[in-house]
Amino acid sequence: MSKLTKKIVIAIDGFSSCGKSTFAKAIAARLGYIFIDTGAMYRAVTLCAINQGAVSEDLVNEQAVVALLDGVDISFKFNSEREASDVYVNGECVEDQIRSIEVSNCVSRISSIREVREKLVALQQQMGRDRGVVMDGRDIGTVVFPDAELKIFMTADAKVRAERRYAELTAKGDKVTMEEILENVISRDKADMTRAISPLRQAEDAVVLDNSYMSVEEQMEWFMERYESLVKE
Ligand code: DC
Repeated sequence: MSKLTKKIVIAIDGFSSCGKSTFAKAIAARLGYIFIDTGAMYRAVTLCAINQGAVSEDLVNEQAVVALLDGVDISFKFNSEREASDVYVNGECVEDQIRSIEVSNCVSRISSIREVREKLVALQQQMGRDRGVVMDGRDIGTVVFPDAELKIFMTADAKVRAERRYAELTAKGDKVTMEEILENVISRDKADMTRAISPLRQAEDAVVLDNSYMSVEEQMEWFMERYESLVKE
């Protein structure tokens, strides 16, 4: 079977607030693939941990987080209005709640817990077992699908990323300042790159996309060139 008819895995990793999900969603729509936002899964576990008092902006009780994992059932359901999948925890849609600044401030500590990663990586591998997926995160090309046929590592200037996130949150009515957003972006970059388990790093066979000054259309053009040259091989 040629690669043109065979469905592949597209792994998109990179820094926070790079527009990975927007890009991955556009690719999935174009190719008729499933899009999986793995950051949403780490955020969903974080939300549960906050609700159960296992983490706050000051401290984390790792044992309590590990203890709640078995009771957390994460799934996605397509939302035709948003043209993307919403994340659910035990049947409840938590898509809006997981984007809060409180969750953003706690998620790095939750995602650095080994048991949390083991559970979510296994779930992600199961979701992508039939290929035909675009998955975005931090460790997709290195850990979840090291055999992904196309790996993209996304990056953008930290200030540009903070401005994008600020616009997104204030549009929703969140009361945030540019300073706290930039601080969150920089501290998450550091936490993502320096954690002991599955730190954020570029896979050797990944192609880099710096989208600081690129529109979504330009990124799509960049992607289609790579995708087409890959499937024509
Ligand atoms: O992509 P995001 O900003 O929504 O991700 C939220 C957090 O989850 C981020 O700080 C790092 C973590 N994460 C991770 O450790 N591994 C992934 N595959 C995806 C996200």
